Amino acid sequence: MATDNVVWHKHEVNKVTRSEKLNQRPRVFWLTGLSGSGKSTLANLLEKKLHEKQKHTYLLDGDNVRHGLCGDLGFSDKDRVENIRRISEVAKLFVDSGTIVLTAFISPFKADRDYCRSLLEGTEFVEVFVDTPLEVCEQRDPKGLYKKARSGEIKDFTGIDSTYEAPDSPEVHLTYQEEPAEQTAERLYTLLHEKGLV
Ligand code: ADX
Repeated sequence: MATDNVVWHKHEVNKVTRSEKLNQRPRVFWLTGLSGSGKSTLANLLEKKLHEKQKHTYLLDGDNVRHGLCGDLGFSDKDRVENIRRISEVAKLFVDSGTIVLTAFISPFKADRDYCRSLLEGTEFVEVFVDTPLEVCEQRDPKGLYKKARSGEIKDFTGIDSTYEAPDSPEVHLTYQEEPAEQTAERLYTLLHEKGLV
């Protein structure tokens, strides 16, 4: 192992002291769902709401992270696994800093989402399934990518020729309803609140 001769250093300022200072419980709200399901929009609205409530937050978003930290990765299964591994490690560091993290990645594979869960403690990992049907996502097609995937212009597109493994027992299952995004975000906030997670 690359880490065989590296010893973890335990620092005195830690997750507990940082969280106390920020007056909050750090967590990861992990939004998973198809492209166009509304993950980024909902994560943005949820972050705004938490921000208004004086919470210290950070949003990790697929489309943005893929320009930097994961700019070298594509959409093969192998690259998607590596994408989510890196995000999971980053999310863990943010939680250690006391921050409430929101993530918006398709994260199509159960094992990878469970990997992030395994890095965190207790109820810190909150899986939110943004369950918007493929037909709706494809009709929205905000970036014109479904059209390109259907015509064969892009390959390995989630829901078309690449797998999406839906969560079995997410902490929050956000079902689709035809309504403005603000209303969906309110539903999400209420579900989280009922579970004592916000
Ligand atoms: S993940 O599968 O590795 O979790 P991620 O959330 O980072 O994916 O990126 C998905 C975004 O990349 C989509 O919302 C879409 O805008 C864009 N994208 C480009 N090509 C693909 C593809 N082949 N499959 C899915 N998304 C793609």
